[in-house]
Amino acid sequence: MQVIKYMFQPHGDERGQLVALEEFKDIPFRIKRVYYMYDTVPEVIRGHHAHRALEQILICIHGSCKIKLDNGKEKKVVPLEKPYEGLYVANNMWREMYDFSSDAVLMVLASELYDESDYIRDYNEFLKFIDEKVVLGG
Ligand code: TYD
Repeated sequence: MQVIKYMFQPHGDERGQLVALEEFKDIPFRIKRVYYMYDTVPEVIRGHHAHRALEQILICIHGSCKIKLDNGKEKKVVPLEKPYEGLYVANNMWREMYDFSSDAVLMVLASELYDESDYIRDYNEFLKFIDEKVVLGG
């Protein structure tokens, strides 16, 4: 499984750091939605779902967390620990977010507006969906 982690270019000077993200330039899709998680309770695992179409970039802009990616065949754990790192999470990818530091702020840039019908929240349904895609795709 290929993990795509972007290293954004901070504009640093004697005042500090600034990161700017533009759609289709730094981010490979049109950004239709931004959301973020904070005050995550210790031991909590968020996510537990895949998306049919949605693409996302996850940026832990403060603190740290871990992201588990699962394409139905392989699993990978990606730590997010820097505010200039962005993890690309494609559609059809099961994801879990966990191990949040108490100060973690996980920001997500998303290619679509919120749409509950785009979610696959059942893991077995996800595996079936992936298998059917492989069959349809030859
Ligand atoms: P949920 O999908 O449970 O988050 P997670 O993927 O971390 O488990 O979302 C939590 C709540 O927030 C749920 O009531 C739906 C709502 N929500 C929105 O209204 N808009 C959004 O863009 C997102 C991501 C969630």
